[in-house]
Amino acid sequence: MPVITTIEDLRRIHARRAPRMFYDYCESGSWTEQTFRDNISDFAQIRLRQRVAVDMAGRSTAARMIGQDVAMPVALAPVGLTGMQSADGEIKAARAAEKFGVPFTLSTMSICSIEDVAAHTTKPFWFQLYVMRDEDFVARILQRAKDARCSALVLTLDLQILGQRHKDLKNGLSAPPKPTLRTMANLATKWRWGLEMLGTKRRFFGNIVGHARGVSDASSLTDWTAEQFDHSLDWDKVRKLKEQWGGKLILKGILDAEDARRAVDVGADAIVVSNHGGRQLDGALSSIRALPGIVRAVGDQVEVHFDGGIRSGQDVLKALALGARGTYIGRAFVYGLGAMGEAGVTRALEVIHKELDTTMALCGRRSVAALDRDILLVPSDFEGNWA
Ligand code: GLV
Repeated sequence: MPVITTIEDLRRIHARRAPRMFYDYCESGSWTEQTFRDNISDFAQIRLRQRVAVDMAGRSTAARMIGQDVAMPVALAPVGLTGMQSADGEIKAARAAEKFGVPFTLSTMSICSIEDVAAHTTKPFWFQLYVMRDEDFVARILQRAKDARCSALVLTLDLQILGQRHKDLKNGLSAPPKPTLRTMANLATKWRWGLEMLGTKRRFFGNIVGHARGVSDASSLTDWTAEQFDHSLDWDKVRKLKEQWGGKLILKGILDAEDARRAVDVGADAIVVSNHGGRQLDGALSSIRALPGIVRAVGDQVEVHFDGGIRSGQDVLKALALGARGTYIGRAFVYGLGAMGEAGVTRALEVIHKELDTTMALCGRRSVAALDRDILLVPSDFEGNWA
C-alpha cells in the first residue's frame, strides 16, 4: 500500500484508478463551481489558537450524534453512485464506517440496495431519502428502510431538481456506463476497476430498478431525477414524512437561518447545514460561512450538523468549534473508496481522526465536547457583510 498521509493522497489515486465519468461525478460542483471551491477555501481563512502546557493525557474524540455513540463526530454522507467508484462500494464504505464506529448514510441513489447493505453489516445505518412523486414508492422505500433497521432518516431538501454539472453531461454519466467509443477507451485503462466490476451483479441503481415505475432510462441520473423527483416538496410534506417515518429525522440541505427555524418547527432531530457539496445552487454561501448564523438561530433547539468542504480533521475541528455537533464527509471518503476500496475508506477515517485528535491536543482541549469558539481565530468579516 502506498504511504497515505492526507485525503489529497487518496484523491490523486482515486483520479487514476476510477473511470473518468465517476471521478468527475464526484469532483464536480454545479455551473461555475464557485460554491464547490468556496466550501474548501473558506475553511482556510479560519486559524487556530495554539495553547501550551495543558494536560493532554487521556484525550478522546468520542461523541454522540442524534443520541448514538460515535468514535468521532464524523458521519459518512450520502453519496450517489458510490458503488460505481469501486465494485460494491456502498457495502465497503458501510463496513469501514461500522468498524471505525461512525455512522454510514446510504443514498437513495446508491448502487447497492438498502437490503444489500443491511445483509453485509451488523449495525444499523442511516438512510437518505429523495422524495419522489410516486407516493407508493416513497411508502415502500421507507418501509424497506425500517425493515432494514435503519436508525435515522436523512431527508434531503435541496435537490428536487438536479443542479447542472457540466462534466456529467459531457461524459454521458450513467450507471452502468454506456459503451460509447470514448467511454470504452477510458475504461480500457482501468483494468483493476473493471475486473472488480465483472465480479459483482450490483451495477444499477439498486433502490430504484425494479422498485420505481415510469422511469424511461433508469441508468441515467439526469433522466430519472427529472421524471421522478417531487417538485412540490414543501414543509407540509416534510411534516407528513416525519410522521410516516416515525423515527429519528435529520433534515439535510439547510443553509439559511429561516429554513433552520422551519426545520425546528417540524420537529427535526437534527439539521445538516449543507449546500450539497456545491453541487446544487452555485453562488450559494459556503457551508462553513453559513454555519455560525444557523447555530445562533437554532443551536439550542436542534442538533446542528455540518457538511461541505471537509478534507481534514482540522476542518472537522473548525466546524465543531463553530457550534456543529456532528459533521459529514462525502468526497473525502469517496476518494478513499475509489483509491483502494474498503481499506481506502478506513484510511480516510484514520487520517481525519489523527488530524482531529492532534489538533485538539495542540489547541489545549481533551474532548470534542470542549471544542468551542475560543480555540479559533476567525476574521471579523468571516460571515460576510451581505445586503
Ligand atoms: C446527488 O446526490 C448528486 O449530488 O449527484
